[in-house]
Amino acid sequence: MTRQLDPTAQVAAPDRDDLRRLARIPDEEQRGLAYRDLLRRGGRSEEITDLSIAENALLYPLLSEQLFKALPHPLPERSTRYVSPQDTERITTAMARHFEESFGVPHVDPKTVFATAGVSSALEIIALALQNPTVDGAVPVPRGDAGPVPRGSNVLIPAPYWQGFNWSFEEVPGLKCVPVPTYKQGNAAEQDTFELTVDDLEAAYARCAQPPRLLVLTNPHNPLGVNYPPGLLDAIYEWALAKSPKMHIISDEIYRHSQLRHTSDRFVSALGLAGKHGAVDRVHVVWGFAKDFGLSGFRTGFIVSGSPAVQHAMTENAADPWERRRPLSWFSQFDSLKQFYIDPITALSGAAWDELTTEYSHRLQRSFDAVSTTLGEHGIRFFRPPGTNSTQFFWLDLREFLAGAPPAEGPETVLFGDDPDEPEQRLAHYILKEAGVKLLTGATMYQMDPRGFYRLCFTAARLDTLQPAVERLCRALRKLDS
Ligand SMILES: Cc1ncc(COP(=O)(O)O)c(C=O)c1O
Repeated sequence: MTRQLDPTAQVAAPDRDDLRRLARIPDEEQRGLAYRDLLRRGGRSEEITDLSIAENALLYPLLSEQLFKALPHPLPERSTRYVSPQDTERITTAMARHFEESFGVPHVDPKTVFATAGVSSALEIIALALQNPTVDGAVPVPRGDAGPVPRGSNVLIPAPYWQGFNWSFEEVPGLKCVPVPTYKQGNAAEQDTFELTVDDLEAAYARCAQPPRLLVLTNPHNPLGVNYPPGLLDAIYEWALAKSPKMHIISDEIYRHSQLRHTSDRFVSALGLAGKHGAVDRVHVVWGFAKDFGLSGFRTGFIVSGSPAVQHAMTENAADPWERRRPLSWFSQFDSLKQFYIDPITALSGAAWDELTTEYSHRLQRSFDAVSTTLGEHGIRFFRPPGTNSTQFFWLDLREFLAGAPPAEGPETVLFGDDPDEPEQRLAHYILKEAGVKLLTGATMYQMDPRGFYRLCFTAARLDTLQPAVERLCRALRKLDS
């Protein structure tokens, strides 16, 4: 007799062994995901509001109402079969139009747009593609020994940054991520700031024994929230591209549509900068549906790149001896099921797409206002230059509370790292226990000096859950004063 699996069956609440297993997951955000699943399976989801993971719950009600309900059922047979990774023309052509319209560039050639299984794999593919020596005109050599960005190359990334860049660039491509600190101390804690300068990049470049070959910018920024100022972007592109003809830039614009209604900092896409700086083959842009559309579970990503190396990698170019051996697009495919669900979104007209992203922006503003008001009422500091964008995040400055957090005890200490006595981890644990709110520690995002910054993702929950959670968080912090 076959055993029936009941997906809704409840299991016991996470115990010490469950949490010990979680401790083996090296990344704090992914450990948080596994913890959330454990709570859900134990019927305890309501106990914790997880604002540590970069997700977006704001758009699902709208997408579900307007798009997913209208999908044809049952699933067509085609969507259950192999599809060629190159057979994404409908989607990439539609996306090229959306990129033109909403990234502010006059023309995006659909042949430069490639669909992947998430932005994480898009980044990995670019890094692997740039190890191809043959498109530079060199003779084929063993894998990874040459190309503009060979294995072992340094990658400059302004910090704090999304720690997943390390998975994409270090694990398989074998590059080395070099955080470029952007923290600047002011005359008082309220005046401390995070601001990238060309001098910061120059200093980090000079500290590397091997000259860096890749610069990665996240724009809009995770976790700082801001859009990079256009003048600074020009200065950075000029600097990086002049450093070496082999230097490449990746602009991760996965949060492009996460813009508050009224911001003083205008978003400028690298899609325009690539042409302006005469480097269409050295500037690569990535975007996906995970953040702006809240479809993080789908794993959908796009590369826009004029680089022959990237194009060969994604089209399995048989004329390229290097690419004959590497079916990258096959293993990171925008698969048939994804195509089925994403197709109606990409097929939206420009006006309908705009309507959706504008509504998102309104919802974003409402949630942002609610959180910033509550934080303000309780005097909790966060980084935000006046009027700037906030993407989906608050970068909380909780340094003043580090000393007051009580010792962390119990199985949940594993969630924040392997040293429960470390003050930043101790405070995160206190907030979890006292307020039922989970934040991401700054050290996970390479904010090492000073410690005491935390990322709060204000789109991870809808307003009716978010607002009381932030109120609890503030009260828990203020309790440490007394
Ligand atoms: C800057 C940035 N890029 C990429 C990703 C991951 O994208 P995906 O889920 O499509 O792999 C994240 C996720 O947090 C991110 O913050």
